[in-house]
Amino acid sequence: MPKKIRLGILGGGGDSLIGVLHRVASHINDNYQIVGAVFNPDFEQNMAFAKEIDVPTDRIYKDFDTMIEEEMKLPEDERIQVCSVLTPNFLHFPMALKLLENGFHVICEKPMTTSLEEAKKLQAAHEKAGTVFALTHTYTGYPMVRQMREMIKNGELGRIHKVDAVYYQGWINEIIHDQEKRSSVWRLDPKKAGISSCIGDIGVHAFNMVEYTTGLKIKSILSDFNYLYEDNQMDVDGTVLIRMSDHVKGVIRSSQVATGEENGLGIAIYGEKGAFRWEQENPNYLYVLSDTKPTQVYKPGHAYNSELSLGGTKLPPGHPEGIFDSMANIYLGVAKAIRGEQYDSGEYPTMTDGVRGMNFIEATVESNKNGNTWVELED
Ligand SMILES: NC(=O)c1ccc[n+]([C@@H]2O[C@H](COP(=O)([O-])OP(=O)(O)OC[C@H]3O[C@@H](n4cnc5c(N)ncnc54)[C@H](O)[C@@H]3O)[C@@H](O)[C@H]2O)c1
Repeated sequence: MPKKIRLGILGGGGDSLIGVLHRVASHINDNYQIVGAVFNPDFEQNMAFAKEIDVPTDRIYKDFDTMIEEEMKLPEDERIQVCSVLTPNFLHFPMALKLLENGFHVICEKPMTTSLEEAKKLQAAHEKAGTVFALTHTYTGYPMVRQMREMIKNGELGRIHKVDAVYYQGWINEIIHDQEKRSSVWRLDPKKAGISSCIGDIGVHAFNMVEYTTGLKIKSILSDFNYLYEDNQMDVDGTVLIRMSDHVKGVIRSSQVATGEENGLGIAIYGEKGAFRWEQENPNYLYVLSDTKPTQVYKPGHAYNSELSLGGTKLPPGHPEGIFDSMANIYLGVAKAIRGEQYDSGEYPTMTDGVRGMNFIEATVESNKNGNTWVELED
């Protein structure tokens, strides 16, 4: 029985949104143990949280630099092996860079950095380090998303014509209409979030979902943003036309002001032989559409699913797979990679996805700024 992988956590404290998802997901397949952390920049809160969740406090550090310094003094077989970076966006780059430079494996939240330039620097550091780097585009871990990828790879939709990806939320309504509130949220602060709010936070998930499922690369985009208020520097709504080629086109619709919407990520992919429709809020139902046959519904855990999809289910059909399972599947892929076991390239998003995501974010900002012009993405 292999020993558990020693996991470090940066950010993701008790006050965070995403911390609990990573902590639970890392435990679901019994592969990881949290051995060190800086959950919070405030040391007292950091220690209090470690005690609350029963993580030994001897390796709870006052800050990130101290964590690296102290961990490097430990023998290799005690040291943190992989570290999850769960802080606000602007800290991803300095943290991930230093981790890679010191030989750690990294699991990083999206968007990977705050600029394409940083993303490329991180890519170079990763090539040098040769360690594992995973980017948590969480939704790629769902069994039915993986099923779409595999069926498209096997040609079951034939040639793809059109892709329509949507990510609608409404949570920023509560904040954006109040001048004081909108200057107090890090997702609306370019120094902390990077150059985009809506596309950087959620549009990029939809972008990744399009490329992950179709296996196609988006070549050019045209975007139209809404900032709602003159003093707001960050997009809170963005519609992006996408072209994969002259005959494969589509749209990414994303919004943080879509009133009443919760976490409405979805994708529809239309091909010459059939189509898929999938929604994150009902992730166990993959609708397979046809012009000539009744609509079919694929569900997780059945033997008709691909190996990649089945690798992400732990119980027989009928036991719903949710967001924790989806993230757990990414952690499972990373565990295999760290242990040098065989894994499928669809098991976790990589540095390449991170660089492409940053390229997409910057291109959409540029297109909108230039008066909604077409902008090419790098190959
Ligand atoms: N994959 C997904 O679906 C998904 C969903 C939500 C958020 N995210 C990403 O996760 C990241 C965090 O988002 P969130 O919503 O949890 O943010 P948050 O503001 O809720 O939490 C951030 C956490 O980081 C901690 N932190 C801040 N500065 C720190 C520092 N210097 N050292 C250590 N800890 C520090 C804070 O104390 C807090 O615990 C963002 O990059 C966001 O884009 C991803």
